[in-house]
Amino acid sequence: MTNWTRRDILKLGVVAPAAASAAAGALANEFASDVTVTLPPTPTQEDSSLSKPSPRERFLFDFGWRFHLGDADDPIADFGFGADHAEFAKSGFLFPASRLKFDDSHWRIVNLPHDFAVELPIQDDVKILFNHGSRPLGRSYPKTSIGWYRRVFDVPASDLGRRLSLEFDGVFRNSVVTINGFYLGRNMSGYAPFRYDITDFVNYGGPNVVVVRVDATEFEGWFYEGAGIYRHVWLVKTNPLHVAHWGTYVTSEVAPGAASATVMIATELENETDAVVVSRVTSTILDSTGLTVASIHSANSAVPPRGKRTFRHPIVVPKPALWSDDAPNMYLLVTTVDSEDGDFLDRYETPFGIRTIRFDKDQGFFLNEKPVKIKGTCNHQDHAGVGSALTDRIQYFRIQKLKECGSNAYRTSHNPPTPELLDACDRLGMLVMDETRMMSSDAEGLSQLERLVRRDRNHPSVILWSLGNEEPIQGTDRGELVTASMKRLAKSLDATRPFTAAMNGGWGKGVSLTCDVQGFNYLHNGKVDEFRAKFPDKPTVGSEEASAYSTRGVYENDKAKGWLSAYDVNKPDYGTTAEEWVNYYATRDFVAGAFVWTGFDYRGEPSPYDWPTVNSQFGFIDSCGFPKDTFYYYKAWWTNQPLVHVFPHWNWPGKEGHEISVWVHSNCEEVELFLNDKSLGKKSVPRLSHVEWKVKYAPGTLHAVGTNAGSIAAEDRVETTGAPARVLLVPDRAAIDADGQDVSLVTVAVVDAKGRVVPTADQAVSFEVSGAGENFGVGNGDPSCHDADKASRCKVFNGLAQIILRSARKPGEIKLSASSAGLASASVIVQAREVRLPLSVPEPKS
Ligand code: GAL
Repeated sequence: MTNWTRRDILKLGVVAPAAASAAAGALANEFASDVTVTLPPTPTQEDSSLSKPSPRERFLFDFGWRFHLGDADDPIADFGFGADHAEFAKSGFLFPASRLKFDDSHWRIVNLPHDFAVELPIQDDVKILFNHGSRPLGRSYPKTSIGWYRRVFDVPASDLGRRLSLEFDGVFRNSVVTINGFYLGRNMSGYAPFRYDITDFVNYGGPNVVVVRVDATEFEGWFYEGAGIYRHVWLVKTNPLHVAHWGTYVTSEVAPGAASATVMIATELENETDAVVVSRVTSTILDSTGLTVASIHSANSAVPPRGKRTFRHPIVVPKPALWSDDAPNMYLLVTTVDSEDGDFLDRYETPFGIRTIRFDKDQGFFLNEKPVKIKGTCNHQDHAGVGSALTDRIQYFRIQKLKECGSNAYRTSHNPPTPELLDACDRLGMLVMDETRMMSSDAEGLSQLERLVRRDRNHPSVILWSLGNEEPIQGTDRGELVTASMKRLAKSLDATRPFTAAMNGGWGKGVSLTCDVQGFNYLHNGKVDEFRAKFPDKPTVGSEEASAYSTRGVYENDKAKGWLSAYDVNKPDYGTTAEEWVNYYATRDFVAGAFVWTGFDYRGEPSPYDWPTVNSQFGFIDSCGFPKDTFYYYKAWWTNQPLVHVFPHWNWPGKEGHEISVWVHSNCEEVELFLNDKSLGKKSVPRLSHVEWKVKYAPGTLHAVGTNAGSIAAEDRVETTGAPARVLLVPDRAAIDADGQDVSLVTVAVVDAKGRVVPTADQAVSFEVSGAGENFGVGNGDPSCHDADKASRCKVFNGLAQIILRSARKPGEIKLSASSAGLASASVIVQAREVRLPLSVPEPKS
């Protein structure tokens, strides 16, 4: 038996925040990531300890694309798209840009993920663009709604006889993909992954060109969605007999406290030859250290010509390390396929976890037979500086941030996520409600759902499939018919997870009848108790709650500026404050928990104000990842660590002697507040609430001390700062991978002479980046900021901004310098360290 040990490929994501910036002091701890994460094996091709190289190769196809905006109204400006009127008359003679000889030397070079919407200027168009992030997309903006991507690549002659395909994790949206002038397909969905077999169209031993025309004229949601190839692309090469696309399905059975688990593995082989291929499948399970824990192989079996065959293996894993939200233990299934003559045909990897889930009508959600309250957030794929083009590390950073406040669940509202988001959830222990975009049983809707379920069903983090959100047909017979068809299909692909829908009405009818778990959007919409009385056997979850809004560091509503106070007081009529919904569900144990709308702010859907606001403010974390005060409310009640958080800031010149409302979020029994060392009294903290004082302002220090059983358990202070004195830079990680994808998220702060963040500072800071990386984008969390994301300058907002540094594919130092008029400058170095690069498609020599 082959030795599968691969300890050497354990990847340690070790961070050294203190080293990030000597000057940063305590701030480094606040803004730098302090989590040391041991990732499960993520082997690359070269890591294989198999003696023979795998016949399967998966190349990252992200680098060196040529990009140009097209034109939805003018075929000539749209590179001849639709100009000829006979493009489809003969195969292989599509529009000029689809062909190899087309000159794209004036197109700019971009690397993926790429969002061209975020590069466009903010546009004041309340009618059409407002909800969508105010970027000029749509029928009224034909010159900025089409994106063209071209990529030339070589395929060696030796690939003839293999199967080649392109896999797109997500393109927004309505894309047409061609290769060498041949049509590959059109994909409508901006979120569902898709794949094209290119075997017949490739020039073997020569250059090829793949072209993607993206048409973002129409939206799919009611929020910012980005535009372009904003997720990874892959080139996959296999033997004609291979594991089918998303062809493994791993489920497990384990009784509580059992000495072993039974893992069921279904492996679908696809034979793309004209002859029967007799082959056998070996399934080997590695633990998180890379050690083999179980292995099994099938008998030699015939896979029919041009057909498929599914092999099923039950396999016993002794002493299973179960996956959970607080111990996310992963395993790796390595599937190998050999022919009866001993030819090595395929090697395919499936990370998975062993765990059980169930929703109970009376007690909510159970993970490994233990009750776990869902402390969830809903989020869109959107981050400051990058729009929808989140690199894998940004996904990881955001899940880490949510874990920091004790959140254990994530709803991929309202669409299929990128696979790397789910990888982050698997690795960090975040439960996922995985949602499809289109609630329909038409061919498109079913296909989107099928792709979602096939792709995501091996992620232990996924615990619920969501069929839709607040659909007008939710309470109707049609809604029932449509979702019943959807569920029938999805259940045939995964019968281990329940189905839900996020409903804001019509409970008990229509879609409700399909749901295994009833979703409630907003308790004021109704009727949780009424539903419970009528349908006592149906488990329930708060699929969306709160929609409370606030602006980081702002303590008074300001309509003209579009800002909202960060006390937990602002909410729409259908929504609640954080405290309201948390208290409501706390008395209803039968509900599995709830998902807050939202964890992070996102572009579009500004509420309740309109222009100049362009972003939503529903998050308890801003669009950069900086916590708002409500973050600490959740942290107080979602974690067990003693916590005290006092706010607002204490810089109120001109308000001396005026009363200011001081709030403390805390989970301690009592909190005592001091102003300049004078006690303002001690208060008991009501469970799931906050304490409040009215304090006559005097500059100095507000100090809140939390006690349990009379002993100090936690404390926090805010101090009146001096004037802005210098810029401070704190990278979240001081060393990143030199792989062209990794990023360091650098906090930019304006601080006083003592290094304290000035909470009202709004200076513009200019950046210079040199060395082994680039400026990938900037942002500041201000929902009304209209400045460019792709810029070498950014204003701090209430003292803070963010610049994202992306590594090049060369090791070395990335040097970031920041300057601002009248302030001392700062610079910091982030190391781009040499790593083994994943296989990637070589770039053309330009
Ligand atoms: C919900 C909807 C979300 C978002 C939210 C804003 O009704 O499901 O997508 O629009 O309202 O409060």
